[in-house]
Order: sequence, then structure tokens, then C-alpha cells
Amino acid sequence: MATNPVPDHVPPEMVRDFSLFTSPGMPPTPNGDPHAAVACVHDGHPIFYSRYNTQDGRGTWVITRAADQRRVLQDAETFSSHRSIFSSILGENWPTIPLELDPPAHGVFRSLLSPLLSPKRVRVLEPAVREQAIMLIDRIVASGTSCDAMKDFAFPFAVSTFLRFLGLPDDRLDTFVGWGKDLLHGDDKERPVAARTIVAFIDELAAMRRQEAVDDFMTFIVQAQVEGRRLTDTQVRGIGVLVFVAGLDAVAAAIGFDLAYLARNLKDQQLLRSEPDRIPLATEELLRVYPPIQLIRVATKDIDFEGAPIRKGDYVSCATMIANRDPAEFECPNTIDLEREDNRHAAFGYGPHRCLGSHLARREIVIGLEEWLARIPAFRIKQGTAPITSGGHVFGIENLILDWS
Ligand code: HEM
Repeated sequence: MATNPVPDHVPPEMVRDFSLFTSPGMPPTPNGDPHAAVACVHDGHPIFYSRYNTQDGRGTWVITRAADQRRVLQDAETFSSHRSIFSSILGENWPTIPLELDPPAHGVFRSLLSPLLSPKRVRVLEPAVREQAIMLIDRIVASGTSCDAMKDFAFPFAVSTFLRFLGLPDDRLDTFVGWGKDLLHGDDKERPVAARTIVAFIDELAAMRRQEAVDDFMTFIVQAQVEGRRLTDTQVRGIGVLVFVAGLDAVAAAIGFDLAYLARNLKDQQLLRSEPDRIPLATEELLRVYPPIQLIRVATKDIDFEGAPIRKGDYVSCATMIANRDPAEFECPNTIDLEREDNRHAAFGYGPHRCLGSHLARREIVIGLEEWLARIPAFRIKQGTAPITSGGHVFGIENLILDWS
């Protein structure tokens, strides 16, 4: 944990007592605001070393400036994505695809998947996404004047959209939400069980679609050819697991943090309710201040980077939540300005691995907020409750009790 030894090549003055998991202000501090907690790192050296900054307790260099993060993320030859984070939970070593492949193999798989998540494909999904949002919110309205916005709306909304994208029915929605929570926010016992369950589910689905083709994502993957050959079982698994995990948590977290902000800021809430055309721009600002994901790269060679002696094999963290609060990039980075223009935020990453699901994610968030604000009157955090948030590789919000009259 925080007592990990500092590698010999790291100058002691570059070590900082900071972690996306345990720093002061990080949950489980009551009502922890993990995004505000990371904003403090901009007051020191722009690159430092954290002794404990990954789920499996490893140290990383932390790149705080947005411009430096872009340099790291653009340079896949020096800063590799080849890590097998998911499969290492199982003691195995296969990459999720395309996320944990480097160019040129990465580009081949990215081209295969990218048409499936294009703006055109997302437009086709939109009516069903909106219908699902309306159905869930109407159910909340019918049941009273209070709800847990995560359990009753954000999670089922994000997961059902994503199941629709995969071509799967909604009937195991709660089970999938549970797997995602255990995987991303669970303890050392829950994580491997969830990972094993997800792998078994993906393998079984692939086997079914190989036997009987239908018109869905997994059928497309098992029939796809790359360089004239069908994908191997491990490649199919690597793609299936990534897409499954990518869709489970981040959209729900984004919607949750947005609703928590609006519940505490009634003026902004009312502005967006009365002028819903402002929601797409506001969504970009909320993605800037509340992005959920930390990106990790592995150095492939020794390099002195902006004064940091990074050595081959070191982990390098590019946390979107840190880049998005960089004062060199954003004026008044800790002020939330729903009309902020030229908002070059890093929520979806940068470079060759930039999020393939960003069109879908953006539309889900915008549609979710539009329908919520159109149906729920002025809402607040319920007195006597506090949202339960979590830090880590993926920042999350588990519980958000709202009420209105
Ligand atoms: C608000 C929601 C989301 C956020 C903030 C987000 C963020 C990110 C980020 C930061 C990356 C880059 C990771 C890296 O470079 O290591 C990424 C990659 C990716 N995301 Fe998302 N994501 C979201 C939703 C989604 C959804 C809904 C899908 C698919 C249905 C998706 C699919 C992917 C895929 C396939 C990649 C890998 C791309 C590659 O390696 O080339 N994401 N996402």
C-alpha cells in the first residue's frame, strides 16, 4: 500500500503522498468528492511518483499536465498499452482488445469495431435509448417523490442501452450491474469472481453465436475476419470482455455525478430544465469536471520525460480527472461553467486509443439528462443522506438519494 518501496531510480523529492485510491478527500471519507480531491495535485511538480496508485497496489508516475498527458498517450512506442490488466486478475495474460494492444495490431481491430459505434449507428439506437429513459423515469415519478437515482435510473439506463447495443435482452440487467460493481469497485475476493463470471458469460455467448448466427454484435465478432482469418477464441474473448466492461459503469457514473451536481446547484438545474438546448454543451463541461477514468501506460524504454527519470517497465498514469483540472489548460479549472466554450477535455482519452464509444456515451448522457429534467421537478440530495462515491481507476457513485416535492 502506501508503504511500497520507492524504486532506486526515483528521486525521493519526486515522491508524493498521493493516490487515486486513498488520498485525503477520497472516499470512504463521508460524502467524498474524489474529483475535488485530485485537483490539489496541480500545486507541485507537474510529474511525481505515487507509491500506490493501481488496483493491484503498484506505484506509478503521475502526469498532471494535460499537454504532457497528450504526449504520453500519443507516443504508443514509448508508452505501451500492452498490460493485460483484466486477465491478470485471473492470473492470466491476454489483452482486452483493442484497448491493450499497441499499433499496428491495435489499428486492425479498431477499424473492425469502429463502424459499430459510429455516429450513424448511434442515431439508429437513439429512439430506443430515449424510450428506455422515459420508461424508467415515469416509473420513478409514479412511485413517489424520492429515489436512489443510481439504482432506479443511471445503472439500469446505461446497462440496458448497452445490452441493446450488444443485442441481448434486459432480463439479466441486475445481474450484469452486480458483476460490474464487483469488478470495478469490489474487494480482492469479489474482483476475481466477477472477472471469471464475465469471461464465462462472454465465452458462452460466443459459442452460442458460432452455433447459431443472429443479427447482433457477438455474431459480427465471431464471423469477422482480420487479414483473411477468423478471430481466435482469445481475440473474441478480449473484444467481448472490453466492450462489456466499457459499457457497464462509465456512463452510469457520469450521469450520477451530473445529477449530484445539479441536485446541489438548483440555479443550473433550473436553467437546463427551462432551456434544454443548453444540455449538450453543459454535458461537455460536466464530463470535464467529473470524468471517471484513469489511463495507465507502461514505459517500453528508459526515458527522461520533463525531468522525470522514467525507466523501462515503470507504470505511467494519465488520469483524466487530473488533466481536466489543469490550470494551464482551462481557465478557472475548478469552476463549473455550463457555457464553457472550446472545452478540449480529456474524459474520452487521447491518441490512438481514444474512446470508441464516445458518440454513444455522449448521446446517452444528453438524453438521460433531457428526459430527467423534463419529468422530475426541482430535486435535491435527500436531507440526512450523502452520495456514496468511490475513487480508483474508475471513479464511481454508488448511491444517490434524491427527493423533490
Ligand atoms: C462516459 C462514458 C465513457 C467514458 C468516460 C469513456 C472513456 C474512455 C477512455 C478514457 C478510453 C481510453 C482508454 C485508454 O486510452 O487506455 C476509452 C476507450 C474505449 N472505450 Fe470508452 N468511455 C465511455 C463509454 C464507453 C462506451 C459506452 C463504450 C462502448 C459501448 C466504450 C468503448 C470503448 C472502447 C472499445 C475503448 C478502446 C478503444 C481503443 O483501445 O482503441 N466506451 N473509453
